Amino acid sequence: MPPAAKPLTPEQIGALQRRAAEAARNAYAPYSNFRVGAAVLLSDSTIVTGCNVENASYRLTTCAEQNAIAAAVAQHGPSIRIRAIAIANLNATASQPCGACRQTIHEFGTPETVVYFPASDGSFSQATIADLLPAAFLLNHR
Ligand code: THU
Repeated sequence: MPPAAKPLTPEQIGALQRRAAEAARNAYAPYSNFRVGAAVLLSDSTIVTGCNVENASYRLTTCAEQNAIAAAVAQHGPSIRIRAIAIANLNATASQPCGACRQTIHEFGTPETVVYFPASDGSFSQATIADLLPAAFLLNHR
């Protein structure tokens, strides 16, 4: 079995959460007014951020997590691994990553990838992607 990944320090977690909150300030969310940011910590310690981008054709909206991960792939290539991802919103409310974003995090994560997301009391909850999406879709047909 591979050695367990080193847990992030409180400082690293705080820095990732701050980057997510900063990214949320760029959100384009005129329809929901729910401004979300995500900061992805890659296995090489790089941080890449994204925000939600809505559309008048509502279903074209993309979530902050998906945009951060797409940017990470565009900037760092297809072999990226997500060590952790922090999500923040500027609406002072709890928010959990949606199902589609869990599948996207899973695609570039490991069972140990940690997700930090806003809790109702203003603090952050944390869970591994394996716990958030225990039965992810895998394409195993070949
Ligand atoms: N949203 C995200 O960007 N990430 C989440 O984790 C939850 C939801 C966005 C999508 C949409 O623009 C708005 O929040 C309301 O659903």
